[in-house]
Amino acid sequence: MQVHKYDVIIVGAGGAGMRAAIEAGQNVRTAVLTKLYPTRSHTGAAQGGMCAALANVEEDNWEWHTFDTVKGGDYLVDQDAAEIMAKEAIDAVIDLEKMGLPFNRTPEGRIDQRRFGGHTRDHGKAPVRRSCYAADRTGHMILQTLYQNCVKHNVEFYNEYYVLDLLTVEEDATREDGTPYKQKRIAGVVSYDLATGELHVFQAKSVILATGGAGKVFKTTSNAHTLTGDGMGIAFRRGIPLEDMEFFQFHPTGLAGLGILLSEAARGEGAILRNSEGERFMERYAPTIKDLAPRDIVARSMANEVREGRGCGPNKDYVLLDLTHLEPAHIDAKLPDITEFARTYLGVEPYTEPVPVFPTAHYAMGGVPTNVSTEVLQDNDTIIPGLFAAGEVACVSVHGSNRLGTNSLLDINVFGKRAGVAAAAYAQRADFVDLPENPEAGTIALLEHVRISDGGEKVAAIRKELQDTMDANMQVFRTAESIDKVLADIASFEERYSRITVQDKGKRFNLDLLEAVELGFLLELAKVMTVAALHRQESRGGHYREDFPERDDENFMKHSMAYKDAEVTADSSQEHIAGIRLGTKPVVVTRYQPMVRKY
Ligand code: FUM
Repeated sequence: MQVHKYDVIIVGAGGAGMRAAIEAGQNVRTAVLTKLYPTRSHTGAAQGGMCAALANVEEDNWEWHTFDTVKGGDYLVDQDAAEIMAKEAIDAVIDLEKMGLPFNRTPEGRIDQRRFGGHTRDHGKAPVRRSCYAADRTGHMILQTLYQNCVKHNVEFYNEYYVLDLLTVEEDATREDGTPYKQKRIAGVVSYDLATGELHVFQAKSVILATGGAGKVFKTTSNAHTLTGDGMGIAFRRGIPLEDMEFFQFHPTGLAGLGILLSEAARGEGAILRNSEGERFMERYAPTIKDLAPRDIVARSMANEVREGRGCGPNKDYVLLDLTHLEPAHIDAKLPDITEFARTYLGVEPYTEPVPVFPTAHYAMGGVPTNVSTEVLQDNDTIIPGLFAAGEVACVSVHGSNRLGTNSLLDINVFGKRAGVAAAAYAQRADFVDLPENPEAGTIALLEHVRISDGGEKVAAIRKELQDTMDANMQVFRTAESIDKVLADIASFEERYSRITVQDKGKRFNLDLLEAVELGFLLELAKVMTVAALHRQESRGGHYREDFPERDDENFMKHSMAYKDAEVTADSSQEHIAGIRLGTKPVVVTRYQPMVRKY
């Protein structure tokens, strides 16, 4: 085992991680540990844009952007965080432009902007052009630009280093109200070098989690194979709560049967959703902004059309995205990649034929709770000094219960930068914390268990069954019965997981072992999502309970917090389900009181 020492360790080399690295790397000794090569990170799959109220093409301002974000998130958004994001969006885009990002331009040479779901002029009056974009490969451009700038600033990367543990120590501390408690402090991380199978301990004053999401808990997903929720998982196993995990976004337009993302930018550029009768059905569900309603509403409407028998195809199980009225030259200029995906994967020519689409699991609104400075919360009132999180792994709660499209590339830039600044500042004023004794012990135990276990159960089979049941029972529509079914399935998967057999017993590039470890995280996170979904007996944003179809602000206008501990608490607002303790956290409301969401 080797030990390294850095001021700041960043776990993950997607947009949030690299944006943080550019800030921290210029000030303190910084390294980025990443499970895969930086330019293969999932940020590269983001397509349609990054929003900011630049008002380059029509009137706009950050206050309207804040309002749209809060309303889009069905009022579960922390409004202080949304305000910061909308305000800092403008500089975040300009920063990228200065770093060299080739945005599309207006004829006058300004950054061009286009429409996206839920982004409106003057509090919902009409769609507004707020998304800055580079064709339909904005995420790819951001990733390349950030990587080039990391290289320029000599950021150190440890590629294919899979972080499997967070090292924390506990110290006596006192809360503001005078009560004593055990405060966690960060000491470093343990990582597994995929090339050699060796463990490396990184001691650090600050650690930033930027590991992305967990979309692979579902079968039909836009997410890359790597998105197995590792960052959320290692935090949860170390007693750090997870916030709002019941809220998972289904992007309306995945390629039918495959889930591959077909950007909302298509609808931003004028494409229309149609059912088997050729009807533009979104006119019924969202009469003002129609196909550009927020994703939760569009995804549910599509699923409803299919349920009510107006789906298309031999099994009537998808709807159609119609671009045929758009000029081929316009499609080629603005949507070159996604139209190629339709040709390649479905054999459909978007110039002349509508494209089969259906909702695909896309984004975790929940994650590791942070404050607006990206400091990770130990509980509602206290932080873990030295630990930060940004991007999809985190829940600063700018997305509430439903994220607006293009607010994700924005989130990683605004809060990635904030994390880099805050982690470097902390490292400049703090001392290293001594590593715990045998810092690698937990990781060795985890890997050895997986390697030695010989019960014959196959990782791929359990993963497939998990993804199947999540798709069938935890997708756009949920009921207590469907959620209970998933919980029962997960209990049996956990039992089988204890009896898995990994065929490859070797050390070098043992992807068999890697997938087994990833499955452990997927099972754990699917359980948290399911337990939180069972507990939230209302419908809000991306979480729709058919048995509780209304939003219930009186009882559920609060964040959910899930803890992995067995403590029995006297607090009656908390419950235990399947070994997970559930608590709540108040929503920060500054200027917008919850209203009925109409579009
Ligand atoms: O549709 C898209 O291009 C996806 C954007 C996003 O998730 O923000």
